[in-house]
Amino acid sequence: MVTIRAATANDLPACRAVWLATEGLDLPTGAETLPLHEHELRRGRLLVADSGAAGAAGIVGFGATLTRSGVAYLSDLFVAPAEHGHGIGGRILQALFADHAGPRFTMASGSLAARALYERHGMQPSWSLSYLLGDVVSIDTSAIADPSVTVRRAAVDDVVALDHEVTGRDRRPELEHEVGTLGGHVVLIERAGRPIGHAVVIHGTWWVPWRPRGTRVAPVVVRDATDAPAAFAAAIDYARALGATVINSFVPAPHPAHDALLTAGLRSIDSDLHMTSEPSLVDPTRYAPSIDTV
Ligand SMILES: CC(C)(COP(=O)(O)OP(=O)(O)OC[C@H]1O[C@@H](n2cnc3c(N)ncnc32)[C@H](O)[C@@H]1OP(=O)(O)O)[C@@H](O)C(=O)NCCC(=O)NCCS
Repeated sequence: MVTIRAATANDLPACRAVWLATEGLDLPTGAETLPLHEHELRRGRLLVADSGAAGAAGIVGFGATLTRSGVAYLSDLFVAPAEHGHGIGGRILQALFADHAGPRFTMASGSLAARALYERHGMQPSWSLSYLLGDVVSIDTSAIADPSVTVRRAAVDDVVALDHEVTGRDRRPELEHEVGTLGGHVVLIERAGRPIGHAVVIHGTWWVPWRPRGTRVAPVVVRDATDAPAAFAAAIDYARALGATVINSFVPAPHPAHDALLTAGLRSIDSDLHMTSEPSLVDPTRYAPSIDTV
């Protein structure tokens, strides 16, 4: 009998194991727990499906939401491959949304089972999100760079209001996680001393199986969509100055920088589908999210 219950810190190694098994991945590190799961436990809602078997083998699935300003982001939903198709994913989702009737969204993988479940829980396909990756030596952003746009390191306090203005949510916990736990830099992007946006640059993403030593440029947030390509160019320059060799980012297909970044030398290695109860919740022309803490 599988029960759905709130996770505890003891469950985090099992969540990591379910995630790696489901994705068919391994990590080049001995870390027992993953930063996203720690964040979900501390500042979101993390549920596990527990079969009752002793130890880590008892955990057969998990799911999580990060709810900010009344909007729920479904940040994880994974069931161990041997248990697929027995209703466990649906039960986790049901429990996560049981006391949340409000707006919700997620970034869905290619799994048709996941997409079917999300539609049943009120989220419809909206736009696709490309996972972009590029070697710094082959990235040329000169066509989108704007010499009047500058970038400098800032504090979470300096960007939280602008972030809220663009995303419609108070994402302070996510920014604090990216800076405090993941060692990211918040950077303010300015034109003639006036803030036009901000970004997070994380140099050394050990927890990413497909790019363990990459530098993550995400999210990139701009007040005005027309500034989006120049903001990306400035954030990539900042990553370059930190010593990045490989850059990864996540860019919605409708985002003004999407095609320009492909032309600049990044390539798309995967994609997610934004599914939402309200297409206006996330503006894909001004907000290029991180896939973890959207
Ligand atoms: C997505 C996932 C969590 C679902 O968990 P699960 O326990 O297998 O899900 P359930 O059994 O509750 O429900 C699956 C539903 O999808 C349906 N489904 C399965 N395969 C399908 C397909 N190819 N096309 C359409 N629907 C499909 C099932 O019929 C079922 O619907 P039903 O309840 O009406 O019968 C699980 O498959 C998983 O971990 N997948 C890999 C990781 C992943 O992609 N996670 C989502 C990240 S966004």
